[in-house]
Amino acid sequence: MVARGDQLELEIDSAAYEGTAVARLDGLVVFVPYGVPGDRVRATITRKRRKYVEASIDEVVSASPHRIEPECRHFGLCGGCRLQNVEYEQQLEIKRELVKELLERIGGVQTPEVRPTIPSPRRYHYRNKMEFSFGTSRWLTREEIDSGEELQKGFALGLHIPKRFDKILDLEECHLQRPPSAEIVNRVREYVVEKGWPAYNSRSHEGYLRNLAIRTGSQTGEIMVNLVTAFHEPERVDGLTSMLLEAFPSISTIVNSINSTRSPVAVEKEIICHGSGQISERIQDLAFRISPTSFFQPNAYQAGNLFSEILRMAEPMQDSLVYDLYCGLGAISLFLAGACRDVLGVENHHESVRMAAENAELNGIENCKFVAADAVEALTPEFVRRNGKPDVLVLDPPRAGLHPDVAKGLLRMKPKRIVYTSCNPATQARDLKILAGEYEIRAVQPVDMFPQTFHIESVVALELG
Ligand SMILES: C[S@@+](CC[C@H](N)C(=O)[O-])C[C@H]1O[C@@H](n2cnc3c(N)ncnc32)[C@H](O)[C@@H]1O
Repeated sequence: MVARGDQLELEIDSAAYEGTAVARLDGLVVFVPYGVPGDRVRATITRKRRKYVEASIDEVVSASPHRIEPECRHFGLCGGCRLQNVEYEQQLEIKRELVKELLERIGGVQTPEVRPTIPSPRRYHYRNKMEFSFGTSRWLTREEIDSGEELQKGFALGLHIPKRFDKILDLEECHLQRPPSAEIVNRVREYVVEKGWPAYNSRSHEGYLRNLAIRTGSQTGEIMVNLVTAFHEPERVDGLTSMLLEAFPSISTIVNSINSTRSPVAVEKEIICHGSGQISERIQDLAFRISPTSFFQPNAYQAGNLFSEILRMAEPMQDSLVYDLYCGLGAISLFLAGACRDVLGVENHHESVRMAAENAELNGIENCKFVAADAVEALTPEFVRRNGKPDVLVLDPPRAGLHPDVAKGLLRMKPKRIVYTSCNPATQARDLKILAGEYEIRAVQPVDMFPQTFHIESVVALELG
């Protein structure tokens, strides 16, 4: 029997979903954050539950051959890059095994072979969007506390500490987005602290500064800075805009989004302070215009490989009608358009639907239509009567996966082939369990869109049985 505070020697044998490693102690599962499979570690039990315990590493006694030095000074505190201490080839294998394990355990499906994970062409500096938060409760590191220095605790700009929604790590560097992203964050922090602008407090709902989102066009070099505030203060934003443009002439557009609601993601108004309020991006031969709130694949270097896989699995014929549910601003639809008769994209974010149509026009593509609707509506007999029954249906829902009514709608509509792309293989596995009665899994392809993090994109091809 182990108790909280006990120190033990453990052999890390595998990785669990969400980036925590696993060791076993006489059959008991021990979750060990930042362990690497193959490590032998000395660790202290920090938490005890009925079926498992958690332990934190005090010392790596003998390092796994896959363990490497992390690049970032914030590794271990910022929850973003949990796998930065694992060599990249092993990250790919860990992700492949996780997809398989989740499909079997949650999905209850005997999976066919899960193919080797497709590596990202870039391992760092691949993200084209990062969203940083302002907060009134700065997380201090052990070294900062021990330094005895007088530190500013009531203001931070960076990323949330895992499981502590109110605590923000003041981020000084980040290797996921290419320069000058981190420099912009540091310069904005300096400026607003000097001006004394208050951060928004997520408990009292008072304050001004909420988020700083930076979007970069990986292939075009364009940069969008979007400052999200609780209300509009034209003079403040004008001053910040001038400062940013002087310090970073490569910024193409600056937007001030207003969110006075309690929801952290709502946007009531977008004020364009500089440029067009959009940026351009390219994926292979396709050009896209992207607005501040539209979803766009966060790793554009890898998106072409993801879309090629979707196309390969969808196998549309030249006379096929394809539905693309959760189509965002039309990226997958436009990619598939050349291989089929028509694509119908369905998306519930109205601005994205408008931009999807603009993006089709920008690329001279005429066989894509986009409809603003909830995914569930596209599966009703009425919708199909109006638009035709799809030969192939591709879907790419948000992390929460499919609403049960969408899964039911798919079972009612019964498209011959479905290609289900997901950035959350746990909810994908849950949904596949519902579809498994009627559909057979033909192929499973993990694609690494998010190197260094535990996230993985999983593409599954389903065929009506
Ligand atoms: C993961 S993104 C996929 C975007 C697109 N497939 C791409 O590759 O760029 C999910 C999209 O689903 C949309 N969405 C979320 N819930 C929805 C719903 N119930 N019905 C339709 N679209 C929805 C979001 O606005 C978002 O654009």
